[in-house]
Amino acid sequence: MRVASLRVLTFAVVAAAVAAPGCSSDHGGDHAHDAPPPVPVGPPTDASELTPAEDENPDPNVVEIHLEARDAMKTFGTAPPTPVWTYNGITPAPLVDTKVGDRLVVHFKNSLPEPTTIHWHGIRLPAKMDGTVAMQSPIPPGGTFTYEFTLKDAGLFWFHPHMRSDVQVQKGLYGALRVRGPVEPASDVERVLILDDIKLDKDGKVTEYLDDHSLMMGREGNVILVNGLANARVSVPPGGLVRLRIVNTANGRFFNLRLPDRKLHVIGTDGGLVPNPYDVDTLLMAPGERYDVMFVADAQPGTELPIISEPYERGHESGKLPPIEVGRFRTTDGPALQPKPLAASFPAIERLPDGPVDFPIRLNEKLVDGQVMFTINDAVHPNVPVITVKSGDVRVLEVSNESDMDHPFHLHGFFFQVLAKNGVPIAPERLANKDTLIVPGKTSYKLVARFDEPGSWMYHCHILEHGEHGMMGELVVE
Ligand code: C2O
Ligand code: CU
Repeated sequence: MRVASLRVLTFAVVAAAVAAPGCSSDHGGDHAHDAPPPVPVGPPTDASELTPAEDENPDPNVVEIHLEARDAMKTFGTAPPTPVWTYNGITPAPLVDTKVGDRLVVHFKNSLPEPTTIHWHGIRLPAKMDGTVAMQSPIPPGGTFTYEFTLKDAGLFWFHPHMRSDVQVQKGLYGALRVRGPVEPASDVERVLILDDIKLDKDGKVTEYLDDHSLMMGREGNVILVNGLANARVSVPPGGLVRLRIVNTANGRFFNLRLPDRKLHVIGTDGGLVPNPYDVDTLLMAPGERYDVMFVADAQPGTELPIISEPYERGHESGKLPPIEVGRFRTTDGPALQPKPLAASFPAIERLPDGPVDFPIRLNEKLVDGQVMFTINDAVHPNVPVITVKSGDVRVLEVSNESDMDHPFHLHGFFFQVLAKNGVPIAPERLANKDTLIVPGKTSYKLVARFDEPGSWMYHCHILEHGEHGMMGELVVE
């Protein structure tokens, strides 16, 4: 596989096109499509808060909102204004805030020039509310649909279209959905961080053209965004215990997060809090994944703490790129807070039983008529053979990545638990409910899930260009 060029981001000048070491180019020297010019980032921008969605229902156990997908203009850094696609005129969408047991009612209108749907990533809901074309007709331009379901699980989830998702998400259609539970850890401040990037051409536009590199790695942008803003600042109280609810909504970019001289305390992931929190030096997040982490902002008032993304090798020499700065925390003025203790444990989660593999899922790539396609069990969606299970079944999947690059595996509608990696059982204290898992090249994971909701569900690679180019399958619960 060839990669025409790899891009590097530095903070002062965002993108500089460089030839990747070891990657020959035979594009005749014309990199016009895959090497957008640098986008100077512009002044620091306060990205601390997302705009909240307006709950129109007075019932405290019902959250009822309107979302309209429509176009708008937005300026990123100092780039010329960018035509974007939004929910209610903004990207990211308004933050939807709920609690476990709430009924969420979303009156959706599609004012885009093409069909769309909304998928509720990670939410356990009735299949006909899941927003995939396996269960719902595309909502045409001018069409409406009401999504309505009860929130069963606490955690940070997100929503995005499930049609032409590589293009629709890149253009700005995504938002966060927070569900609070009865047990939430104490903190001095909680921040939702939606990490993303956007690839702008010299006119500030998002191009739909998919060059070889972007097909292979997922479209990586030349502007890094935190809550939709370039050169982001996120305010935290000095000395405060900070809780971060992080989601990676990028098409292809992995974030490998690090704070200088500090560990991150992981308290939760996709499916909510984990029983045994743990510390990490770097936090790797693929597209679609969520992490719930804490750290103490032990710095003088007015200090800036850079949020770094360290290089990570996910294939095609991506690990040779330099670190980038994602944004910065900034401690506010005022006296330092007394340190609060970090949570040591959270409620147990039910462990699903181990068992023999029921369904092998092999991820790979192949050339079809000279074009790279991404495969599951050697087939390209929609020709991937359907997996069928009975409602209530607990089934074991073995996801084997036969390719040389990482694929983040995402299952709709159900959490799964990791049983083993390359045949080695996962430490019992790492038990977690996941819906998206990085499966590195030449690596296999054994996963278990309880399929207790009937309907047709999708599973796919969450590098959106891979999902849209074959690496997607369907699982039917009867
Ligand atoms: Cu977030 Cu099928 O995806
Ligand atoms: Cu992939």
